[in-house]
Amino acid sequence: MKILITGGAGFIGSHVVRLFVNKYPDYTIYNLDKLTYAGNLANLKDIEDKPNYKFVKGDIVDAEFINKLFKAEQFNAVIHLAAESHVDRSITNPLEFVYTNVIGTVNLLNAAKELYKAEGSTFKRFYHVSTDEVYGSLGETGMFTETTAYDPHSPYSASKASSDHFVRAYHDTYKMPCVISNCSNNYGPYHFPEKLIPLCINNIKHNKSLPIYGKGENVRDWLFVEDHARAIDVIFHNSKDGTTYNIGGHNEWTNIDVIRLLCRIMDKKLNRTEGSNEKLITFVTDRAGHDLRYAIDSTKLQNDLGWKPSLQFEEGLERTVDWYLQNEEWLNNVTSGEYQKYYNVQYTR
Ligand code: NAD
Ligand code: TYD
Repeated sequence: MKILITGGAGFIGSHVVRLFVNKYPDYTIYNLDKLTYAGNLANLKDIEDKPNYKFVKGDIVDAEFINKLFKAEQFNAVIHLAAESHVDRSITNPLEFVYTNVIGTVNLLNAAKELYKAEGSTFKRFYHVSTDEVYGSLGETGMFTETTAYDPHSPYSASKASSDHFVRAYHDTYKMPCVISNCSNNYGPYHFPEKLIPLCINNIKHNKSLPIYGKGENVRDWLFVEDHARAIDVIFHNSKDGTTYNIGGHNEWTNIDVIRLLCRIMDKKLNRTEGSNEKLITFVTDRAGHDLRYAIDSTKLQNDLGWKPSLQFEEGLERTVDWYLQNEEWLNNVTSGEYQKYYNVQYTR
């Protein structure tokens, strides 16, 4: 099996690449990544020399490049994670999200279709990794299921919703072997420190203020990133074509409670007086169109394929804090921009 994983130098993609490279020595894993600000090859240092791993630098928006790559390598499957992923950036620059998330996805679908439709095709699966944000915002009660109607509110979620629709359209129209999963908020090692949890870990470390949007009452359903990667493995290998699975941790927290817990964990880890980190919390102007609540019902995945989250949030958050404190160099390189020296890596066959 030659599997193309897109966005493998990013947060979740790097965990998926690591899992597949280590667990499946007989597969060849190609990691295609443009290395935008969110891509960092240091995320994959531990597996970069493995014989079944190859890195390809490239842009999924470049159709000619993508078509050539698929023709040359004759992949058997695609796991597509490459995306612009930060809601706040999508509010400032929506078009970038349309290019990568929508056009990039359609370019990959077109290239995969050529392989799938060829005589004697060995192309088996197009797996599209998506988000629960496509479902919009919940009130105080209820959960997103796989049949919840799409109702995206941010340019990010609108672009992901659009890409999901294209993937389903290619399954229905061209009979492509597509599957989709929609996952809740991830946290864990290698998370880029513009997102809530790693941003606050970094700020607490440096005694800087912790910016909480609005009143901190928005609710997110947090899942440890390695549990997401495990779910992707299970779905990739065992689901039926045309299926959608929701992935989530049954783990709802208001933002303010997440940050209070983080402050308490880091009081201990940094030997600071109990309550001192909480003083860094600062309420700032709310995000435009800020979704109130996300909550995922992942019963279908648990019943069909036996997946369930492995970690309690408190334990996962403590592991995450430990990782950031032990990987100071990674964090410093990311916050200083030093990691971008990797940008010059080129694809060689
Ligand atoms: P990320 O921003 O950390 O990583 C994205 C990766 O894609 C980066 O390595 C970047 O260099 C690459 N990339 C961006 N544009 C590209 C392009 N045009 N061509 C090739 N590569 C490109 O994102 P993430 O948080 O790891 O999310 C990965 C996927 O999972 C995304 O599709 C996202 O929508 C989805 N998702 C994320 C979460 C979450 O909580 N982070 C939850 C559910 C689903
Ligand atoms: P984020 O990590 O950006 O993920 P998403 O928007 O995809 O859910 O944000 C998580 C929650 O934290 C979201 O409700 C917005 C909020 N937030 C803050 O309060 N302050 C911040 O500085 C950031 C980045 C997010």
